[in-house]
Formats: sequence, C-alpha cells, structure tokens
Amino acid sequence: MNYYQQHHQEYLEGLKTFLRIPSISTLSEHKPDIQKAAEFVRDELTKAGLNQAQLIEGQGNPLVYAEWLGAPGKPTLLFYGHYDVQPPDPLDEWKTPPFEPAIRNDNIYARGSADDKGQTYILIKAVDGLLKQHGRLPINVKFLVEGEEEVGGEHIESYVASKPARLKADAAVICDTEMFAPELPTICVGLRGIVYGELWVQGADHDLHSGIYGGAAPNPIQAIAEILCALKDAQGHIRIPGFYDRVQAPSEKERAAWARLPLDEKEYTEKEMGAKELVGEPEIPLLERTWARPTLEVHGIRGGFTGEGAKTVIPARAVAKISMRLVADQHPEEATAQLKKAIAAACPKGVTAEYKPIHSARPSLVNPDNKFIQAAAEAMKQVFGKETVYIRSGGSIPIVAAFDEFLGIPSVMMGFGLPDDNLHAPNEKMHLPNFFRGIEAVARYLEILGS
Ligand code: BES
Ligand code: MN
Ligand code: MN
Repeated sequence: MNYYQQHHQEYLEGLKTFLRIPSISTLSEHKPDIQKAAEFVRDELTKAGLNQAQLIEGQGNPLVYAEWLGAPGKPTLLFYGHYDVQPPDPLDEWKTPPFEPAIRNDNIYARGSADDKGQTYILIKAVDGLLKQHGRLPINVKFLVEGEEEVGGEHIESYVASKPARLKADAAVICDTEMFAPELPTICVGLRGIVYGELWVQGADHDLHSGIYGGAAPNPIQAIAEILCALKDAQGHIRIPGFYDRVQAPSEKERAAWARLPLDEKEYTEKEMGAKELVGEPEIPLLERTWARPTLEVHGIRGGFTGEGAKTVIPARAVAKISMRLVADQHPEEATAQLKKAIAAACPKGVTAEYKPIHSARPSLVNPDNKFIQAAAEAMKQVFGKETVYIRSGGSIPIVAAFDEFLGIPSVMMGFGLPDDNLHAPNEKMHLPNFFRGIEAVARYLEILGS
C-alpha cells in the first residue's frame, strides 16, 4: 500500500464534511453555507501545508487562494475548482438526502460529489499527500477555487483579469469534467460556451376569461411556443440568421479519434439518458452534435395556471428560460444580438417579446500539443493503466476562456467524473475508485512535471 492508499479513510471523512455543506450558489438563503464552504477549502489548504491560504472577498462569493512556491526554476500550475453546487431539487427523487453523503456500491452519493467538491478535493489531497511525505512539492502550485461557477459568476473573471502577476502560471489544472467511460483516463480539450437568459412575453395587461375572450385575445404562452418553434425547427436546426456562420467543424484527425471512442448509442440513449430516441441534426454524428455544434434549449416556462384542477384563463404574460450553447468561434455578444433579432422577427402579433440576459461564457478549445497536457495524459495512463483519450465536452466552464485570454495559459482538464454521475440531477455520485485514483494521478502529474 502506498501513502495515498493508506489514507483513503481520512480522505473520505474530509470529503464527507465538505459535502455536508449545502453551498448552493443560486439560492440567496444559502449565503452562510457558501461562506462555510469557502472557509472549509481555505482551512484544508492551510492544513495541507500551502502558504497564504486566504479568502478573497469582494463582490460575489469569496474566492479561495493559496500557493506553494518553493521550487524555483520549476513550472507553476494554477489549480482551479469550484465549491458551489447546483440546487438538489427534485428532493423526493433522491434515495438518500443530498447533503447527507451516503456510500453505496463504491459510490459516494451527495450533491457536489462529482461537480465539483469531490474533484476539487482531489487536487487538495494530491498536494497534501506530497507535502506530508516529502515536506515539499516537485513544482510550484497556486490554488484558485471559486463559489459561483454554477451561476456563471463573472467575479472570478474580473479577478483573473486584474491579477495576472499574482496568478502567473504555466498552465491551469481543472478537475471538473468527466472520463469518457469507466476506467478510461480522459483529458477534455474543448468546452462549449453559453448564453443564458429569459424571454418575457406580454399580451393583454391583465389575465382574461378564456371563454369570453378566447378567439380574440393574444396568448403569451402560445406566443412563446411559436417563437421557440421559429428559432429551432423539428430537425434540430437553429433558424437564427447568421448563427452558424462562425462554427468551426472539428478537424479530420479529431473526427477520426472520436469515431474510435467506445460508444454504444443504444446504451447511451436508453441507459444513460433513459430516453427512447435521440434527436437533433440528423446529418451530424452524435458526439459532434454534443461537442462541436451549438444548441438552443428551453429550460422552463412560467405563466398561466399550473395548480391543481382547471382554471379557464388566458394569461397576461409568460416567461421562458432559454439558453444557447456556443462552440468555437462563436461569441456570446454576437449570438445574443442574433437571438434578440430572431425573437423580434418571430414575435406573433398581439404580444411583445423581450430577451433579458442572465449570464454568458465563451467556448474554449485547447491545443493538446503542449507538455502540460502530455504529462497529465502520461500520469493518468500510469495510474489507470490505459492510454489516455482526448475528448471535448458539451458543458461549460467559464474560467477556461479567461485563463487563456488574461493569463495566456492552457487549461489541463483532467476529469474524474463518470457519464452516469447524475451531475445537476438527483442522486449525484462520485465513483470512489476514481476519487482515490484521481488523487494519485494528480500527485503523479506533479512528479512527472518536476523531474
Ligand atoms: N462541471 C460542469 C461542466 C461540465 C460538466 C464540463 C461535464 C464537462 C463535463 C460545470 O460545473 C457546469 O455545470 N457548468 C455550467 C455552466 C454555467 C455557466 C452555469 C453548465 O455547463 O451548465
Ligand atoms: Mn463543475
Ligand atoms: Mn455544474
């Protein structure tokens, strides 16, 4: 048993304490939990032996910073993670409560177990183990952990933009993505961006009796349906003028590598998604649809009567939450402008439609031909015993584009989640063997870079 294997119990206890804090960034009543989670991370970094461990408080949720810079002449890595989590609803679908971590079949179940507390803890414990064993690290590290990733928080971005000297590093390391399949070490080199907002539609200035006025009154929920159908057709093609103009197709080399990945479409559809059939652009292969094509999705529609029983009313207004995922080289500002124009063009008579932005993030693509990504692939290969694969992901991690733009560094996305981890859904879990091997892989990574 190596050092890390001897400490599994301790790592598990620490992780459970972290997971018990309901640090939900989108709900303001959880502000005290956000603070607690930030302090937990800071204290763990201090206990690990890092220097300058501190909360950076300003607008928004605290950032946590720490550093160990005792290896002059060696590379510096900037470790990123997020301590905030998504809301746990629907609560009745959880087999055990979301903030009472429970272990079943080698998995730890709790909100944030994979996204991203478990994976942030991997980074902390890798460094902790090296410092406890050797009293030093093979390279220099800085930590920057945030608490607003799940709300597209832009505060970390302005911090990064304003502190290039403090955050100077050769590469960023992020454990907040997934392995393509169990046992298959994976590096993610591409993420989609996002534009998220609300579509407000107003009809009459008050609710109307649907018998008296039905047939003559504008219906904002019907209008939302019509606008959405105009924005995306039944084949999954987005009908926003100019929207696809900047979309870059993946290279032939990437396409060929993706085609070699172990993917069973039936299993993906029926087991992983629990759906009957896949939809979307029929002429585009599945992985390309989710990794290299933009989307338009509706997340919720509010309006009218949704209580028990029947109420015959034509609502005065309705709101839809919608998002677009963007791929390189699309820009959030340009895509937002295109969306607004398309909404105006599709708005039926009798109602007004207004788009209100909530947050946005740019897409990112990382060139894997650099020694920081190569060394990570080697470390993961050594620990998992299989050749590392390179994938993209359809999700978004806003800071990646900012690390590129403001610090000029690539992000090394070593992910230890699994496709069935239920991110953002009930019964989120982290596979414990991945948690433990993740710690070893990150420690190995530092050793390789230091040698
Ligand atoms: N860790 C995820 C993103 C992710 C998941 C990347 C799986 C790769 C594989 C992250 O916490 C997340 O959920 N991001 C949000 C973005 C945001 C701006 C709200 C997302 O993608 O919806
Ligand atoms: Mn995450
Ligand atoms: Mn997330």
